[in-house]
Amino acid sequence: MKPRGGPGGAALVEYGIQDHQQVQINRREIHQMNIAHQQSLLVCMLCRFYSRNRPVFRRKGVVMRVLVTGARGGVGGCIVDRLRDTGVAVRATCRHPAAQRWPWAETVAGDLDHPHTLRPALDGVDAVFLYSFAQPETLPGLAAEMRAAGVRKVVVLSTIDTTRNEPFVEYNKQRHLAVENAMHDGGFTTVCLRPGAFARNAIRFWANQIRSEERVRLPFPQSQQAPIADEDIATVAVHALTSQQLDGQKIVLTGPHSLTMREQVEIISQAIGKTIDVIEIPDTEARVLYGRILPPEYLELLMGQWAFEVTEPAVVTDAVERITGRPATTYVEWATSHSDAFTENSPATARTDT
Ligand SMILES: NC(=O)c1ccc[n+]([C@@H]2O[C@H](COP(=O)([O-])OP(=O)(O)OC[C@H]3O[C@@H](n4cnc5c(N)ncnc54)[C@H](OP(=O)(O)O)[C@@H]3O)[C@@H](O)[C@H]2O)c1
Repeated sequence: MKPRGGPGGAALVEYGIQDHQQVQINRREIHQMNIAHQQSLLVCMLCRFYSRNRPVFRRKGVVMRVLVTGARGGVGGCIVDRLRDTGVAVRATCRHPAAQRWPWAETVAGDLDHPHTLRPALDGVDAVFLYSFAQPETLPGLAAEMRAAGVRKVVVLSTIDTTRNEPFVEYNKQRHLAVENAMHDGGFTTVCLRPGAFARNAIRFWANQIRSEERVRLPFPQSQQAPIADEDIATVAVHALTSQQLDGQKIVLTGPHSLTMREQVEIISQAIGKTIDVIEIPDTEARVLYGRILPPEYLELLMGQWAFEVTEPAVVTDAVERITGRPATTYVEWATSHSDAFTENSPATARTDT
């Protein structure tokens, strides 16, 4: 919006709107619009405050129940944390749940590879956050168990790879599309969250190297990602689980900036106050190093992806800000708040799935 002189010297303001049309509106109208905007913002804030502090009802007097699968994982754990103040009844599941982590939530063990084991976890559940490495043959059984329990909505943790066409993403793409499609075809309202690279990958891939050698060995230091924080994925997931606003959508979620791996290491270095050298290593050495962390199918995927990502910046979307109403976490903010993971004596996650 930029002020401009108008006919007869009246102060006018120019608005850019769709299709590059422009409308001229005088200052009084702008003032009235600003007041209306501020009033609607206030109403929005009050609604958010109110809805965060009251139970979410599915029927009169019956509180909505949400099941979070993969609850011991990075994204699932953040979702359980964030659901605490929403007023829904929360149940957390994975194969080895730690009840003491969420004394205010129910924790129930279940194995996604064996859908019948999820019956106690699914009992009385309205909406499910689905983390799934499910084998395709288990998906119909999983959908059947959810339907039998009366589940209406499934929020799927998918991947940005579902939107890509390079051959190296094919395994991951099909694996996640199978889950998205099984939930859609199962008759549930679905929301598919399709994040790009997790910021947390730095802990999985580099924390041990940084702590023990103060260096990071990389096959493609110029490879670019837009790393996203678990907390941002979780905030969007909570929105999807507890409101109807995102129903039916497939949403690509990314961090706010495309950064080379070299830049990511530099940011971590500043966050922990230590110099970390980046050492470029050949493909064969990288396969041995990262093959200790990744299963073979994901080693192939990532080696292809990292090589490809040298050629262009990572996709960046504004979905986190658009949905949550606040900017996505920057890598500087993420590295600062997770700096402990890169310093001595901190337990880094040793194994990974992508
Ligand atoms: N890393 C990335 O850059 C990236 C990017 C986009 C999408 N993704 C997707 O994100 C997902 C991983 O999410 P995440 O990193 O938050 O997970 P995570 O940290 O690897 O944790 C997942 C949790 O799920 C539980 N789990 C594993 N197998 C299970 C099973 N068969 N039944 C029940 N629970 C099981 C595990 O706990 P228990 O051992 O107690 O069962 C584990 O703690 C994957 O689908 C991946 O493809 C990753």
